[in-house]
Amino acid sequence: MASTPEAAEGGEIRRRDFIYIATGAFGAVGAAAVAIPFINQMNPSADVRAMATTEIDISAVEEGMAIKTIWQSKPVFVKHLTAAEIAEANKVDVASLRDPQTLDDRTKPGKPQWLVTLGVCTHLGCVPLGAGQGESRGDYNGYFCPCHGSHYDTAGRIRKGPAPYNLEVPPYEFTSDTIIRIG
Ligand code: FES
Repeated sequence: MASTPEAAEGGEIRRRDFIYIATGAFGAVGAAAVAIPFINQMNPSADVRAMATTEIDISAVEEGMAIKTIWQSKPVFVKHLTAAEIAEANKVDVASLRDPQTLDDRTKPGKPQWLVTLGVCTHLGCVPLGAGQGESRGDYNGYFCPCHGSHYDTAGRIRKGPAPYNLEVPPYEFTSDTIIRIG
């Protein structure tokens, strides 16, 4: 009679090996089944991806006006600077500024008239005034944070008060002459 593998010399060892290997394989499958939903949870949903960028039509924003929008739950100001406001920003001695930046540093090449900044004061995060019609623009004709009195100039640079930095310029690009995509 032919001997079974179990009856052969070393058969017991092989059977234990089989049990061990089978258990190991099951363990691996179980781990994969758990891992897939976990990885899926880490992928941003379509909703979240859509909120990562904000597109704005700026065609109706006249010179001297600004609009407010929201990007990633933060207020954003898009201001259409007048020629006088651009000149005012450019005549400042940049070396004298607390956070030295030119208007060109803060705008896109060839589009110095479009100033896009977060509407978040860099002191403690209040929303400055100046984007809405009739709101105070502070001593430097830009934005004014009423919480503790920070004044920003026409380029959104800090000029007076406790805020340490200029209003932040978020990542953005012009997708056409009249559409800006933030994010
Ligand atoms: Fe704006 Fe303090 S939060 S000045």
